[in-house]
Amino acid sequence: MTTVALVVTGSIAAYKAPVVARGLLAKGFRVVPVMTRSAKEFVGRTTLSGLTGEPVHVDSFEAESGELHVEIAARADAVVVVPATADILARMAAGRADDLATALLLTTTKPVLVAPAMHPGMWSHPATQANVRTLVARGVRFVGPVDGVVASGDHGMGRMAEPEQIIEAIVSAVQGERDLEGRRIVVSAGPTVEDVDPVRFISNRSTGKMGFAIAAAAVRRGAQVTIVAGPVSLVTPPGAVRVDVRSALSMKAALEHALGPDLSGADALVMTAAVGDYRVRETKAEKLKRSAEPLTIELVQNPDILASIGASRASLGKDLPLLVGFAVETGTDEAIKNEGRRKLTAKNVDYVVANPAAEAFGGDDNRAWIVGADDVVEPGRLSKSELADLILDRVVEGLKARAK
Ligand code: CTP
Repeated sequence: MTTVALVVTGSIAAYKAPVVARGLLAKGFRVVPVMTRSAKEFVGRTTLSGLTGEPVHVDSFEAESGELHVEIAARADAVVVVPATADILARMAAGRADDLATALLLTTTKPVLVAPAMHPGMWSHPATQANVRTLVARGVRFVGPVDGVVASGDHGMGRMAEPEQIIEAIVSAVQGERDLEGRRIVVSAGPTVEDVDPVRFISNRSTGKMGFAIAAAAVRRGAQVTIVAGPVSLVTPPGAVRVDVRSALSMKAALEHALGPDLSGADALVMTAAVGDYRVRETKAEKLKRSAEPLTIELVQNPDILASIGASRASLGKDLPLLVGFAVETGTDEAIKNEGRRKLTAKNVDYVVANPAAEAFGGDDNRAWIVGADDVVEPGRLSKSELADLILDRVVEGLKARAK
């Protein structure tokens, strides 16, 4: 039976926690309630234990033997915090373990979901916002808060999401959304490498992390995934098929093979690869020797793989595969977004993920704009896996729109 650890913290919205517990029980989940000390001021321990048929845990030292936080973490398929106060968000962000709730949140390796509830002033405070960003980057899922009237009678962002919404979010966190079931997604990743001679090459700083994050998320969401990767040192996401390539021309050939001449081999192509725009005219078979003369290496243009696939899709009169390009740029945020828009049209694609070069390479997170024909999603700084899911959300939307 799927088990959810329900952590209740001390906010007035705690009176809705039993409604969430009842909803989860109705869906067939087992609910293990955990309360912080201050939560006891807001909701009855007996209410929660009566509903769930489980003892309500507050203290780490209740267990006769063993460690309660470790035991609950081992049993729970997800840990949810309903409601989540500004204080628990701060303690989670700091990695504290000063009560059973935070010790459990630090121990679990399963999905963690929080439903914040607090005064709008506390929610918008830079300290809380910084904690939220930290938690989002670590993969904690947020449901709400929403705009509305809060306990004090004030109006603003801070009201807890409705129990039905929270229950729905918990179900999808536990079961995982399989919204790409049956879809074929091809992802290109990493740099391309153009050999100069047997020991030297021209390449770029791409590590492939973004593409591998997209491939992993797409597999999790049910897609059949092929990843065409330049030379990277990353583990293939389990379930994905990997094709290793080196040069831009070999990447082009591998992608064309995966898509087929009529492009019917995939529902979407996500081009995260940093394809080299130039290759050396002539790769030397022998190592170049040092000489007194300046050395000139002649470079010739590589084909633009994405633009050529965009052009064939147009000439075939098709709207699939959905095409997602990336644009790593320098300049102001506005200039980067504009480059994204320009490449959207120039390459005839559906989305361009534009990001600043200084922040794109090698790290575990990224700041990006997802530029579509009609709108731009500006998620701010996110982990690459969070960003991967947002990009796939757009892919899912785009595929749905085309099915109509
Ligand atoms: N791309 C490609 N083939 C190339 C170059 C780029 O398919 N030869 C793809 C990349 O995978 C990426 C998108 O096109 O999805 C944008 O790449 P970028 O290098 O930013 O674009 P360029 O058209 O090369 O523009 P720039 O002049 O800014 O380098």
